[in-house]
Amino acid sequence: TRPFRVGIAGLGTVGASVIRILARQNEVLAQRAGRPIEVTAISARDRTKDRGFDLSDFDWFDDPVALARSADVDCVVELVGGADGAALQTVETALSQGKSVVTANKALLAKHGLSLARIAEEKGVALAFEASVAGGIPIIKTLREGLPANRVSRLYGILNGTCNYILSRMELEGLTFSECLKDAQRLGYAEADPTFDVEGFDTAHKLAILTSLAFGTEIDADAIYVEGISSITPLDLAMASELGFRIKLLGVAERTETGIEQRVHPTMVPKTSSIAQVMGVTNAVTVDADAVKELTLIGPGAGGDATASAVVADIADVALGKAEAPFGQPVDRLEKAPRAPMQRH
Ligand code: NAP
Ligand code: HSE
Repeated sequence: TRPFRVGIAGLGTVGASVIRILARQNEVLAQRAGRPIEVTAISARDRTKDRGFDLSDFDWFDDPVALARSADVDCVVELVGGADGAALQTVETALSQGKSVVTANKALLAKHGLSLARIAEEKGVALAFEASVAGGIPIIKTLREGLPANRVSRLYGILNGTCNYILSRMELEGLTFSECLKDAQRLGYAEADPTFDVEGFDTAHKLAILTSLAFGTEIDADAIYVEGISSITPLDLAMASELGFRIKLLGVAERTETGIEQRVHPTMVPKTSSIAQVMGVTNAVTVDADAVKELTLIGPGAGGDATASAVVADIADVALGKAEAPFGQPVDRLEKAPRAPMQRH
């Protein structure tokens, strides 16, 4: 049987984990997909960097766009990052050439998700992005495929591992904001530019994707009120604790009478609540809907292996021939929901 040939663009925290997991799970994945899954091509900036595996096993590309054009690649896995530039060109090139794409890039999807989904639809190929939200938690599949019987009224959660890790360690260990951020970067949790994490933009990108899937609406990242955690002090956390609360960075999307309200901001949650128990790099997403009532998924929100778990699940789906509409329905059927003004909460 002809192998399913994968090209991996980006060999950093996530890309290197994907290569390791694909090698480790090789037989199980081949059985599931009905054919071997083979990484044929790789791309990154620096060919001399030690990445913990033998680069000579693969075709090397300095330019990820050239990898996307390679005749030896059926599916392009974009793990470069960034909303525009190399990542956008790589994904656009792959889709336009009729190749499926797997990506973990929420910044790209929040900005260009609909236009990219439209190309995927036209070409009849997959655009899969389970890893773009909440790391190892299968929240995209849950919203897209698991809840068609439901009308969702609200979705909220802890969607950024770096921020939750920082807030948890500041509160429990009395460390400074910058010490915790440095550790989050060392552990591979933070974005290349950690401003995206700590100023709330990364949570907003993820919220924009989830809102579209949960409410069947067009992505509208610009509608989100965004406030991060960079101004939270140890004193804020101590005062909240004394009053019986924890501070969490939440992303919230809610159906209101006037439209969809989306917001990201630090929130005081009672220490006795289940969301207050979510500590460290862990993420949690709760969906309120009419049939299931309340559904919560909790799991690792960032890090190489946890994120690679979701990337590899997508690769396996694509190898099997699954090409769900990226946002659950054809892009032209997504509703243009009015933006609701933010309420005081
Ligand atoms: P990373 O460690 O910074 O790795 C990025 C990789 O892309 C590196 O291998 C880098 O090459 C390569 N690269 C960057 N710019 C390039 C360019 N212009 N041309 C060619 N290659 C380029 O990032 P990461 O943490 O793995 O994240 C990758 C993606 O996954 C991002 O979209 C991120 O938001 C997303 N994500 C990350 C996590 C996480 O926990 N880290 C979780 C979920 C989603 P060099 O190695 O040669 O520098
Ligand atoms: N920087 C992101 C986070 C990676 O900390 O949640 C996972 O998307």
